Amino acid sequence: MAVTRTIIKSVGGYLPERIMTNDELATMVDTSDEWITERTGIKQRHIAAEGEFSSHLAIAAAKIAMQRAQVEANDIDLVIVGTTTPDLTFPSTACIVQAELGMTHGAAFDLQAACSGFLYGLAIADSFIVSGAYKRILVIGAETLTRLMDFKDRNTCILFGDGAGAAIVEAGEGRGEMSDRGILSSHLRSDGRYRGLLTATGGASSTQSIGNIHMDGREVFKHGVTNISEAIFEAMNATGFGADDIDWFVPHQANGRILEGVARKVGMARDKVVVTVDKHANTSAASVPLALNHLFESGKLERDQLVLFEAMGGGFTWGSVLARW
Ligand code: UT7
Repeated sequence: MAVTRTIIKSVGGYLPERIMTNDELATMVDTSDEWITERTGIKQRHIAAEGEFSSHLAIAAAKIAMQRAQVEANDIDLVIVGTTTPDLTFPSTACIVQAELGMTHGAAFDLQAACSGFLYGLAIADSFIVSGAYKRILVIGAETLTRLMDFKDRNTCILFGDGAGAAIVEAGEGRGEMSDRGILSSHLRSDGRYRGLLTATGGASSTQSIGNIHMDGREVFKHGVTNISEAIFEAMNATGFGADDIDWFVPHQANGRILEGVARKVGMARDKVVVTVDKHANTSAASVPLALNHLFESGKLERDQLVLFEAMGGGFTWGSVLARW
């Protein structure tokens, strides 16, 4: 039976020019390259320049994705921007991106799911496309997370970086089988009871300021491995695929040890795991599309390969998406 599938047509990524190494961080706070590398796998992060906002990073990533998909702004029906660090409280970063790309129809909105923002965006885009509401959607994850950083807090300032990734997704035809191209299953979860374990301490309604990132690292780590693994098993159960069937694992890049823990738990071979945390650190909602972009640019991603995405972030929010490229 013919069904509509959401095809991931293209991906693009953008990282700010300035790189901050662990050694440079160690001149600002009591830490070391050795500690950061051993505990997180991070070696460096990119930092947005003064006057460079999340929308600027988003637009740069979007332009690459659009060029690779050979689409113009007015071929796109909807812009979804996953971000925790919008340019302004309002209007949405998505509306800024829409205007700057020259898109004069359709709709645009931001989505707040912390580090799961892109994954949530992908799942929502899939629902809109499968329902027939939209034909082509630009999904972006864009963050200037270092703006929320207290560079005196070694528990958090070593972990995050700035960047953006974008994907063009569009309607395609499938047969309703697992051999179809496109998104085959998506699973979103959240549990607000854990909201205090990973939070920014400010907000328009409560403090009229943006606050700083605050985290109970050990607890987040523990929940991370468990929640992400569960979301992956859900994807496997829903599709009938096992770890051996999956060609690429494109996870949220929070900590190299979390990636290893999850891969071990779900039986994923190490050489299928895309790792960018060493170069980008945790770029929150941008992390998954930036990792996908890295895989794409490596030339190893082939048509019809199975790609498993996952993310987990503040809220807690988490989930998985399984797609055939
Ligand atoms: O997108 C999701 C968001 N976040 C995450 O997924 C992060 C999850 N958590 C983590 O990645 C890890 O918990 C961290 C990397 C944040 C911390 O690693 P850990 O192995 O859990 O370390 P810890 O917090 O248990 O701290 C161990 C020690 C402590 O010293 P004492 O109490 O043993 O004397 C810390 O004070 O390491 C100390 N420490 C540091 N030392 C050097 C904490 N941060 C640093 C640092 N440099 N930056």
